[in-house]
Amino acid sequence: MAQANANRPVSGHEKIETSNFLMIVLTLVTILFGGMVEIVPLFFQTSTTQPVPGLKPYTALQLAGRDVYVREGCYNCHSQMIRPLRAEVLRYGEVSKAGEFVYDRPFQWGSKRTGPDLHRVGGKYSDQWHLVHLTNPRDVVPESNMPSYPWLNTAQVNPAEIAPKMAALRKLGAPYTDDEIAQGGDAVKGKTEMEAVIAYLQVLGTAGKLAAAGAASTSK
Ligand code: HEC
Repeated sequence: MAQANANRPVSGHEKIETSNFLMIVLTLVTILFGGMVEIVPLFFQTSTTQPVPGLKPYTALQLAGRDVYVREGCYNCHSQMIRPLRAEVLRYGEVSKAGEFVYDRPFQWGSKRTGPDLHRVGGKYSDQWHLVHLTNPRDVVPESNMPSYPWLNTAQVNPAEIAPKMAALRKLGAPYTDDEIAQGGDAVKGKTEMEAVIAYLQVLGTAGKLAAAGAASTSK
């Protein structure tokens, strides 16, 4: 049996499957090609690279708040992407569009949904509600299992960090003016991290909501 096999011509397929090296190289080539076909076109589609109308880059205070959001790991429980499913649209609002995230670096889309999606939480509650909620969620939502973040009330935003961050984001495409960058530090002077994160939460998803409302009224 073994002898008969030894004389059998070896097919190309078998050569690949029995050589670790060839198998690894060709697998990588296939994945690379597949990845390019899926990813590269996105760089050239305006729907994924152009901001939706009315979208502005984060102000200095919102930007500081966004960093607090990332530092505290809010994304571990909260996604920021409303999927095109009826239940989600009814609960959270208009479906998320790629053009709403062009100034988000990095994205906070997330995939873990222990808490509600936050993409359109902007304007849903008052600043005061957020303050009470973040200090101790149980004070407004008794059954909540979200952690408390009381230290945000006393921790101050560091003004020295803001201008370099805005300058870096401008290099990546956020249209900040020189004045905005120069005044970035002053804009957050004396602000607590609580004020910053609330400013960030209150702007989330608002441009997309307006754009969707505008599109609906013109199509009627
Ligand atoms: C351990 C998981 C967890 C983490 C971490 C977490 N949350 Fe939550 N969050 C929840 C849950 C659960 C709810 C729903 C109950 C409630 O409203 O408290 C919630 C609700 C919210 C809501 C109200 C949303 C709505 O539409 O009613 C906001 C705003 C919010 N979280 C912001 C934050 C921020 C900001 C952080 C980080 C500083 C954070 N959360 C961290 C679990 C979490």
